[in-house]
Amino acid sequence: MSEPCPVDRLKERVGQSVRIRGWLYHGRRKGKIAFLVVRDGTGSVQCVGVRGELDDAAFEKLDRIPQESSLEVEGSVRADERSPGGVEIAIKEVKVVQEAEPYPITPKEHGTDFLMEHRHLWVRSTKQHALLRIRAEVIAASQEWLNAEGFIRYDTPILTPCACEGTSDLFETQYFDLGPAYLTQSGQLYVESGMAAFGKVYCFGPTFRSEKSKTRRHLTEFWMLEPEVAFATFEDNLVLQERFFSAVVKRVLDRRGADLKTLERDLAPLERVQPPFPRLPYDEAVKMVNDAVGKEEGLAPLTWGEDLGAPHEAFLSKRFDRPVFVTRYPSAVKAFYMQPDPQRPEVALCADLLAPGYGEIIGGSERIHDKALLEKRLAEHKLPAEAFRWYVDLRRYGSVPHSGFGMGIERAAAWIAGGVHLREAIPFPRMLYKIYP
Ligand code: 4AD
Ligand code: MG
Repeated sequence: MSEPCPVDRLKERVGQSVRIRGWLYHGRRKGKIAFLVVRDGTGSVQCVGVRGELDDAAFEKLDRIPQESSLEVEGSVRADERSPGGVEIAIKEVKVVQEAEPYPITPKEHGTDFLMEHRHLWVRSTKQHALLRIRAEVIAASQEWLNAEGFIRYDTPILTPCACEGTSDLFETQYFDLGPAYLTQSGQLYVESGMAAFGKVYCFGPTFRSEKSKTRRHLTEFWMLEPEVAFATFEDNLVLQERFFSAVVKRVLDRRGADLKTLERDLAPLERVQPPFPRLPYDEAVKMVNDAVGKEEGLAPLTWGEDLGAPHEAFLSKRFDRPVFVTRYPSAVKAFYMQPDPQRPEVALCADLLAPGYGEIIGGSERIHDKALLEKRLAEHKLPAEAFRWYVDLRRYGSVPHSGFGMGIERAAAWIAGGVHLREAIPFPRMLYKIYP
């Protein structure tokens, strides 16, 4: 028999004999007809067996196959307007590869705890499957767009001797005789060395924060994509972000329409993701929040100098029809490496990109390029000079103004998919109370 045919290519094979391989999604029998819905990862198709066309023993076997058994089906493809893929298969033969034990996830409702315990199986379910395909598309779109723009992928280490984003949420481990090492919170510091070697670079990999917070927007292990560009100003960085994110969303719309439909995602907010994105200075954001306190449920007042909380971000982002940059936060609430605004040194040349109704998906800034100022900031933040010696070197040998940003893949995918819980936007989420499976 010929090569197995992927389910999503069956429509090109109408009238022909094919073989498919996959898993039984569900089976049922109605009189002389048995229906098997088989999924193979690219899609699912209904396979139909008829008593008489199949001998009795072969027919009887069909409705005794347990859910999620692995199998091979041979049969002929015929057009069927009612089915989602436009085709079905008339069964000639079914070979069971492994007969599954009773499957724990059934069509009835399960609680989230139960599903999370069975995450290794839950990823087969329709909605999870659609979500993870969108995640994969976000990653592919991001990298391919940056590659086409002349960026070089530059991989940064996971085990590091220094903290990038503050010292409060570091995972620490002992590194042989060399003292403590930390799981990286961000590849940024290292990717800056690539910026000075290649001009335009990005890193992409897992990042870690021992967040003690139990929110729907925090993981302890998440994937981040971080571009960094030499000579780029704060404004150049915003333009890069809006072009980049718009291209990523457009590609998901173009290629993952069926998955967005499965998730019942309203496409209008995605279609509006086009440059330019509005810029909202932090000062005005504080004012907008305070003007709405009392009118908006659960919205706490803000004092200038405080960071925005998740409810503030959700409130602000709902005021705009597309993603919005909140710019120039007080330096005191942001990381040590951010360039101060020369006109107003108490604020940083930084921006967070908030997705509508959701909140931060990207954080970025211009970086300090002056050696003396950087050393001052390291000292103020009580960061160990020795671990950052190489980072200061970058300001010693051909320092240039430069900027970059980091997009959390799960946050971006979760928003694009319709604001789902972050734990569903990664195959195996790691959270405060979650390490299994
Ligand atoms: O704003 P953050 O902390 O910025 C950085 O790490 C910079 N070094 C990035 C850079 O300029 N190269 O994190 C960037 C993004 C956030 O906007 C968010 O999308 C995601 O990373 N993120 C998280 N995602 C899931 N769980 C968490 N605990 C996250 N913390 C940050
Ligand atoms: Mg941030």
